[in-house]
Amino acid sequence: MRASALLFLWFREMTEPATKTDLGVSQLKCIGCGRTALPDRFRCETCRDLLEIIFPGWEPAGPYGRSANSLKKLWLSRKSSFEPADQSGVWRFREVLPEIDQEKIITLREGNTPVYELPHCARSAGIQHLYAKHQGMNPTGSFKDTGMTAAASFARAAGYQWVACASTGNTSASMAAYASRGGLRSLVLIPDGKISWGKLSQSLDYGAITVQLKTDFDGCVRVLNEVVERMPVYLLNSVNPYRVEGQKTSAFELLEQRGWEPPDHIIVPGGNLANSSAIGKALGEMKHLGFISRLPKVSVMQAEGANPLVRSVRENGGEKLIPVHAETMATAIRIGNPASWKKALRVIRETGGTVEQVSEVEIALAKAEIGAEGVGCEPASAVTLAGLKKLVKQGFVKPNETVVLVLTGHTLKDADFTLKFHRGDLFDGTTYQAESGSLKRFERSPLVLEPSVDAVIKLLQSAA
Ligand code: F0G
Repeated sequence: MRASALLFLWFREMTEPATKTDLGVSQLKCIGCGRTALPDRFRCETCRDLLEIIFPGWEPAGPYGRSANSLKKLWLSRKSSFEPADQSGVWRFREVLPEIDQEKIITLREGNTPVYELPHCARSAGIQHLYAKHQGMNPTGSFKDTGMTAAASFARAAGYQWVACASTGNTSASMAAYASRGGLRSLVLIPDGKISWGKLSQSLDYGAITVQLKTDFDGCVRVLNEVVERMPVYLLNSVNPYRVEGQKTSAFELLEQRGWEPPDHIIVPGGNLANSSAIGKALGEMKHLGFISRLPKVSVMQAEGANPLVRSVRENGGEKLIPVHAETMATAIRIGNPASWKKALRVIRETGGTVEQVSEVEIALAKAEIGAEGVGCEPASAVTLAGLKKLVKQGFVKPNETVVLVLTGHTLKDADFTLKFHRGDLFDGTTYQAESGSLKRFERSPLVLEPSVDAVIKLLQSAA
């Protein structure tokens, strides 16, 4: 049987109205016109808008007939289980995910990421309570794993043999790993010379066919969209609604880690704008199901050079996306034409959040401050702290409010950036050179000494 036919059979359940016996059943629905969608599509056949997964089976008694309180207990009890699905910080929450046969799950035990307090960064931003949900502590070093376990598992369950993505580096690393674990072949399209070598090396190591296209991320997406139309290849970019479902669990996990007490603000970096959408979707579902009684404000931060959402909100109230030619050293978010902008905007509006942009120098400073807390992150994640500082100055975030930054990637994802920063040559030859003088006091260049005990002791004494 062809993969698409299998996919159809498997999805058929999703496109039929839920009955009382289908208590967890989900459907694909267009975010624009509201029509339910054909099984193996990523956009609405009628209006071309994105699709999202909804759960008619949750009404009226909750997922699988369970209340919020009973789910909270069930999820916590799974923490002592040795079952792979229970050890996954995504599938532990499977009652709020599209249903799948547990045998088909591809898991690297993703999720289960820590929340760290950041007292020094809090002081620097001018607030009292600042935390980081560190999604860089996932198996391949970024938040992408939480979505990839879901979408790759569904690809395998549907009988696909090939998966593919366009990427700024983290999606490709994650997809390559999950595809290999699941016995799938994978194709990666990345912008030539514009992703960190660490991320590139991951996709090679995990066994993907890795192609560097002589274009940017947006160009890679254009090519891939045509490829998947013509070939039986399952698209694992973040327009894939199963990715969003997996990523959504990071917000369930965060709230569980906070004893189900919502913070006042959650700040997320914005690239293709799927992660902010996923977190917002989870918060809406948690409120609807009675897990929480109020919504945190979700705000999205972009780099000044890759700011299509900020421009769209400022210049036309978010009516229409203004694509930009993206340029930033935070290569993970070097995206000018984000696919999920409407979903992200809906989240910002529904939660009362905002958008802001930050400069290259502000990103570098924030990254160094997060590093100096012993936590670290990749440059794209640091837009959250840089943006928070602006939101505090504007009075949007009050000093006594609790803020959670979503750190999306591990510091080792872009060691080049970090080394250049500490050597003091990150901004050499750029227009930011003058502005970057303010970073000097954060630079810690490696020292070279003779192999002498005295020399090391002298250094220690001078540092004391
Ligand atoms: N932070 C990191 C570390 C990322 O890799 C990305 C996106 C984002 C933030 C933005 O998230 O796209 O959901 O708004 N990286 C994608 C990739 C595009 O291909 O790895 P978003």
